[in-house]
Amino acid sequence: MSTSTLAALLTISVLPSRAQQPPPPAPDSGQVDVGQLFATTCGWCHSDGGRAAGKGPQLMDTKRDDDFIRNRIKNGKEGAMPAFGETFSDAQIDDIIKYIRALKPHEG
Ligand code: HEC
Repeated sequence: MSTSTLAALLTISVLPSRAQQPPPPAPDSGQVDVGQLFATTCGWCHSDGGRAAGKGPQLMDTKRDDDFIRNRIKNGKEGAMPAFGETFSDAQIDDIIKYIRALKPHEG
């Protein structure tokens, strides 16, 4: 084997494996289904998509203002609700607030 072939083989073997690269970051707001996001992230405490109380209070028909809701989602509440300020962008939190405001009882 020539020296140059060996050098080429060595170069290839030290290249980082593409397969080990992390996946690209999740797309930003606008592309996520908020209902789906709510069901998976919030639904086990805010039952029935937020229509009923569970471990957390019912969110449908909330009397809280947007600032309160945004603050609660971002910062959570110690011992009660986790903080999601690192999980969601401001735009996504706005979408969640819209989702909560739009909640209606199930038909029938
Ligand atoms: C581990 C359970 C849990 C999870 C998960 C959770 N919550 Fe909560 N949430 C609570 C509890 C408990 C409260 C009541 C806190 C308090 O005592 O003020 C609350 C309060 C709230 C409030 C304020 C309601 C009010 O009238 O005071 C909002 C809005 C809210 N949650 C939204 C969300 C959203 C959106 C998500 C998902 C991103 C989420 N929560 C995930 C448990 C949870």
